[in-house]
Amino acid sequence: ALPRPFTVPLPPMPVLQPTSTTRGRDVFDLVQRPAKLEVLPGVRTDLLTYGGTFPGPLLETRSGRPAVVRHRNALDVPVSVHLHGGHTPSTSDGYPTDLVHPGESRNYAYPMRQRAAMLWYHDHRMDFTGEHVYRGLLGVHLVRDDEEDALPLPRGDREVVLAIVDRSFDEHGQFHYPSSSAGEHARHHADSLGVDDAHIEGVLGDVMLVNGAPWPALEVDAARYRLRLLNGCSSRRLDLVLDPPPPAGAMFTQVGSDGGLLTTPIAHEHLVMAQAERFDVLADFSKYPVGTHVTLRNRFGSGPMGAVMRFVVARRAGDDSAPADRLPDRLSEIEPLDTTGARVREWSFTRGEVHGRSGWVINGEPFDPEVMAATVPLGKTEIWRFRTDLHHPVHVHLDPFQVIGRGTSRSPGPFDHGWKDTVDVRPAEHVDVAVRFTDYTGRYLIHCHNLEHEDRMMMAAFATG
Ligand code: C2O
Ligand code: CU
Repeated sequence: ALPRPFTVPLPPMPVLQPTSTTRGRDVFDLVQRPAKLEVLPGVRTDLLTYGGTFPGPLLETRSGRPAVVRHRNALDVPVSVHLHGGHTPSTSDGYPTDLVHPGESRNYAYPMRQRAAMLWYHDHRMDFTGEHVYRGLLGVHLVRDDEEDALPLPRGDREVVLAIVDRSFDEHGQFHYPSSSAGEHARHHADSLGVDDAHIEGVLGDVMLVNGAPWPALEVDAARYRLRLLNGCSSRRLDLVLDPPPPAGAMFTQVGSDGGLLTTPIAHEHLVMAQAERFDVLADFSKYPVGTHVTLRNRFGSGPMGAVMRFVVARRAGDDSAPADRLPDRLSEIEPLDTTGARVREWSFTRGEVHGRSGWVINGEPFDPEVMAATVPLGKTEIWRFRTDLHHPVHVHLDPFQVIGRGTSRSPGPFDHGWKDTVDVRPAEHVDVAVRFTDYTGRYLIHCHNLEHEDRMMMAAFATG
């Protein structure tokens, strides 16, 4: 029994309080455990959770202040935690074979030597990332800093984290993930491949969830809001619009991307978001009459999947709201990476054979956790060229990159600005990015963030050094 759209209130993200804040660092504790939660009203769904909620709790840390997240695995499957967008030492980066087994604990150390940004954490177990994330192992992590605090951005109740995922339910209200390894026995064997052969293109749900609730509604003041958007879907790209559009002004004013603030705000009349991308945008509900129902729609979806959630402009804003025109033209500084004389590396993302089965490969090779596809010197800017056959959202660990060309154009696309860690590479396209790794040596990953492509081996390891 699916609820009528826009009848379930948007759940606020629970915030995880640190267990300790002494010795100059924040320590958080998270127990990964099974939980039965009410995702659809009146139905209990079995989930794998971070700390008993879906999504996992919101972590908030400060730039420059180290954080440690102690994960205890109280699930019956091995896990590996990756902080997506984190500038993280290799040993805490959640390598797919660096597993935390059931009953074990692990301290993940995050030095937080990075600017304010919206990161997210999710499982990264080899072959099973798609299934584990689908079953609930994802959460949002916000990094804050003084520069961002000083800007007149909406805050408090007017800063809203929206983690969007699509899911399907079976007739018992359980998540329906088409796993080839259904059953406890097979799930313990890392040699089995997660998603079944019929779904290696990807898994699409038929219910849209925001912060774990189906097509929710949020009452807003007639004021400017800051929306922190995550496309957490496994395989679904989104094209977001507000319906009706605001009678005046931009639909969305983008202030940040995966890697934090842009240099200047960018007005958008829609937002294309590939999987794993984050957008930090302002939406100005003061432009609408009180009482307006504003639907966040997904123009890439049809029927129920064409809607995401609804904002109900419920009341006039108090006089505390900062007027829209106070946003400065200059938000932040971004040093353009200098690519003069830079080495060019090509990464091609295509269909291919994976251990005798159909799958996905990078430069012709399926992922092998023991093989480094490249060794990249720290501190040196390189140009990485991503080539594709079909849609592949390409993600790089350790450091963000700058998109410098898309297709025949020698400039970024409209949604490519700022520091990015995931880029939407479209069919038969190439995208050039400038990347420079810093601080940490070790093994890291580049992969497609369509999670079924990733699990069917569209991933490569590289070493920094
Ligand atoms: Cu969001 Cu390697 O992952
Ligand atoms: Cu892909």
